[in-house]
Amino acid sequence: MSTYTLGVETSCDETSAAVVQDGATILSNIISSQIDSHKVFGGVVPEIASRKHLANVLPVIQEALSQAGMTIADIDQIAVTCGPGLVGALLVGVTTAKAIAYARKLPLIPVNHIEGHIFANMLGRATIPAPFLCLTVSGGHTDLLLVEKPGEYLHLGGTRDDAAGECLDKVARVLGLGYPGGPEIERAAASGNPEAFDFPMVLSGHKTFDFSFSGLKTAAINLINHYRQRGQAIPVSDLAAAFQKAVIDQLIDRTDKALREYSPAALLLSGGVAANGLLRQEIVRLAEHHGIAHYIPEQALCTDNAAMIAAAGYHRSLMPGFSPADLTLNAYPELPIYGLKPIL
Ligand code: KG4
Ligand code: ZN
Repeated sequence: MSTYTLGVETSCDETSAAVVQDGATILSNIISSQIDSHKVFGGVVPEIASRKHLANVLPVIQEALSQAGMTIADIDQIAVTCGPGLVGALLVGVTTAKAIAYARKLPLIPVNHIEGHIFANMLGRATIPAPFLCLTVSGGHTDLLLVEKPGEYLHLGGTRDDAAGECLDKVARVLGLGYPGGPEIERAAASGNPEAFDFPMVLSGHKTFDFSFSGLKTAAINLINHYRQRGQAIPVSDLAAAFQKAVIDQLIDRTDKALREYSPAALLLSGGVAANGLLRQEIVRLAEHHGIAHYIPEQALCTDNAAMIAAAGYHRSLMPGFSPADLTLNAYPELPIYGLKPIL
C-alpha cells in the first residue's frame, strides 16, 4: 500500500505544498512565488514574506490536494519545514501543518530545509548508492556533506562567510540586474567572456573543505565601482561570466578534493544554485572524471519546493528511532541537520 505525504514549505519566499507518493512520485507540487513582491527591495523582506505566506498557505495546500485528485482524507502524513529559515515565514507553515495534523489525527514530520534539498534527488528515483557526497548550494547555505546513509551526515566543509547564492544575489544587485541574482548572472554570463577578469581561487591548497565567497564578492563590487567612478560603461556580461566561473571553480575545487579524499559511490548536487547550467555541467564532468554516478534534481526541483520536503519527510519517517512531532513543534531559524557530525 502506498503512503501519501503532504509537504508544506514556507521557509523563505516561496509558499509551497505538494503531495508525494512513497517519497518518490510527485502527484502535485504547487509553488506560489513571492519574488515580484520582494524584487523592488532587491531581496527578501521577512515581514512581507510572512504576510504573503499567511495569505497563500491554505489556497496552495488546497490546490496541491486538488491537483493530486485527493482530499485531506487521502493523506497519510504531513511533512513541514521547521528550519532553518526566516522565523516568521517558518511559523506560518509549522502552525498550519500542526493544525491540520491535530484536526485530522495525522502524523507530523518535522523536516530540515537543507535535508529537503538533498532529498530532492530522491524524487523520481528508487534509490541512490551510498556513501555519497552531496554539495548543497543555496541562498543561505554552501555545504559539503558525506552521507553514509540517509540521515547520517558528516560535515566536511561549509562557507566561512557568505553562501554562494547570497554572493551571486549581491553582485547581481550591484550590477543593476534583477532579483534573485543567480539566474540573472547566468543570463548575463551567457554572452560574456569568463576569462575577461581574473578572480582569485580562494582557500585552494589549504587543509580544508571550507568555502569563502565574501572576498570574491568584494573584489567584484570594487571592480564595478571602479568603472562607475571613471564614468566608464560596466562590461556586465564579461563580469557576470568571470564572477560566475570564479564561484563555480571554487565549488568544484573543494568537491574534487573531497572526492579524492573519501572516494564515495556517487556525487549529488542540491540547493537553488544547482539550477545553474554551468555548475550542473561541471558536476557531471567531475563525476565522470572520478568514474562515479551523479545525481542532480531537475531544474524546477532545485529551488525551494514542497515536494522535496515531502520526500525528506517520508524518508525521515522510515529512519530507526523516528517518532512524529507533537504540538510543541516550533520554528527553528538556525536548525542544524539532525544526525550531522563535524569532520573532526
Ligand atoms: O534553495 P533556494 O531556492 O533558497 C534557499 O534555500 O536559499 O536558493 C535560492 C538561491 C538564490 O541565491 C538564487 O540566486 C540561486 O539560488 N539560484 C541560482 C540559479 N537559480 C537560483 N544561482 C545560479 N544560477 C541559477 N540558475
Ligand atoms: Zn532552499
